[in-house]
Amino acid sequence: MDATGCFGRVALYVSGQLSSPDIEEADVADNDFDVIVIGAGPGGYVAAIRAAQLGLKTACVESRETLGGTCLNVGCIPSKALLHASELFEEANHGTLAKWGVKVGKVELDLEAMHAGRLEAVKGLTGGIEFLFKKNKVTWLKGHAKFTGKDSIDVAGTAYMAKNFVIATGSSVTPLPGVTIDQKRIIDSTGALELDKVPGHMVVVGGGVIGLELGSVWRRLGAKVTVVEFLDQILPGMDGEVRKEANKLFKKQGFDIRTSTKVTKAEAGGENIKLIVEPAKGGDAETIEADVVLVSIGRRPNTEGLDLDKAGIALNKQGQIEVDHDFRTGVAGIYAIGDVTPGPMLAHKAEDEGIAVAEILAGQIGIVNHEVIPSVVYTYPEIAAVGKTEEEAKAEGVEVKVGKFPMIANSRAKTNRDTDGFVKIVADARTDRVLGVHIIASVAGTMIGQAAQAMEFGATSEDIAYTCHAHPTHSEAIKEAAMAVNGKPIHI
Ligand code: FAD
Ligand code: NAI
Repeated sequence: MDATGCFGRVALYVSGQLSSPDIEEADVADNDFDVIVIGAGPGGYVAAIRAAQLGLKTACVESRETLGGTCLNVGCIPSKALLHASELFEEANHGTLAKWGVKVGKVELDLEAMHAGRLEAVKGLTGGIEFLFKKNKVTWLKGHAKFTGKDSIDVAGTAYMAKNFVIATGSSVTPLPGVTIDQKRIIDSTGALELDKVPGHMVVVGGGVIGLELGSVWRRLGAKVTVVEFLDQILPGMDGEVRKEANKLFKKQGFDIRTSTKVTKAEAGGENIKLIVEPAKGGDAETIEADVVLVSIGRRPNTEGLDLDKAGIALNKQGQIEVDHDFRTGVAGIYAIGDVTPGPMLAHKAEDEGIAVAEILAGQIGIVNHEVIPSVVYTYPEIAAVGKTEEEAKAEGVEVKVGKFPMIANSRAKTNRDTDGFVKIVADARTDRVLGVHIIASVAGTMIGQAAQAMEFGATSEDIAYTCHAHPTHSEAIKEAAMAVNGKPIHI
């Protein structure tokens, strides 16, 4: 803002788009906002909608053709569409339908129709955000934003100013040195959503969330899938017992999982890709041949091309924008949320931060409890967690009590014949307060909601154990695990 309180005309003039006579005629208000959000992913679009709902004049910049960010376009939604479709295919092909008296004829894959289903889901939801922008009077500034100062940005050659900016530019795939992604045979998660035929052999580099979810899709559709993981266990960050169980179950499903192994090179030539792998600690190299290689070794924050230096914002060693409890960067009036900041890279974390930051900007209190952010891996069975793992709690010097309950002893899971997995509750031995809940079960992603809510309310394991749970439900396993914390489950 200049000394006279005007934003826009000064900016237009400075950027050379207006000559001085134009200044008088320019519509100052059009380019001046209370809030400009950069990025329309789950963090950014939610922040923009909430800011507008609270009466702030709001714009959201997005360079993609459609709104919704990574999550709606190439992340959560299309991957879940393919996970759902491939699960139906596998169930019909090799599942338990016949045991339930449901006879099906020859099952065939129509991959084109499966992709059409994925695209329809994406189109519906991204279009929905556009509708919500219009409904809430959020202005969509189409193009790439870069800072020109602390209170000004440029989007496609036009200058805009705002009292506050929220950076919500998200993240992109981390590249693997020595391996060039061509999106045909060496692909990232986006390429893995779009394969036009089922590969004979897919090698997944990185046994994390993307590798296991998208690896599951193509394994169910008929590919042999090998997972090469650098660490000695898949799914880093998850509870140790959950990681072991997941490894066992995925191997049983046919995944070839090579832990403590690193890829040093990928050579694309002829029909196949030749991957050179060796033990993580060093040793003899080995060649694995693959039709398709999926690189899924993590994601990194999107800050390139934002000209953050012009706004005076520095990055931490991980390339992220550091923020305080109220999402403030070090520069007054500039905030950041979602994947571009430290913390788990999850859509719901970004969304909650979007709501909180907008409420703060509107003068309200906006809070996100980062101790209680659930996470779900949408494989079969699903894997879900909230709070601390047993290992984390112990490393912090907390004495814990643990209660476990196997899904095989849960009446609904047993009836449905989906008995893989367990529920594990970690509680503080002194106060009984629940510190973490970890679940492997067919519907773990749905079950984790109640655990997150209980933890948000500061529940003890006794609170959960004495909450009446509907019967027969998978969620009764949470109640029994809570009872097991004090050694008194009924059904084992
Ligand atoms: P993003 O969604 O990345 O959005 C940022 C937006 O900013 C992008 O649209 C980008 O185009 C735009 N942008 C960037 N720079 C600029 C600029 N300078 N100017 C204008 N626009 C810009 N999370 C879950 O919670 N559940 C899941 O099931 C899940 N599945 C996933 C599956 C896959 C395959 C992937 C890749 C991710 C998945 N995630 C999932 C992670 C989730 O997508 C991200 O955590 C989430 O999208 C982050 O939201 P965000 O708003 O911070 O950023
Ligand atoms: P990730 O961090 O989950 O897993 C990456 C894996 O690659 C780790 O196990 C790591 O040890 C391994 N790795 C790293 N370098 C390696 C190397 N050189 N060779 C072999 N292995 C190596 O990252 P991923 O799967 O790429 O996902 C990125 C982010 O997207 C995650 O942080 C996740 O939060 C988010 N996401 C969330 C989903 C969900 O919530 N269901 C689904 C998909 C993604």
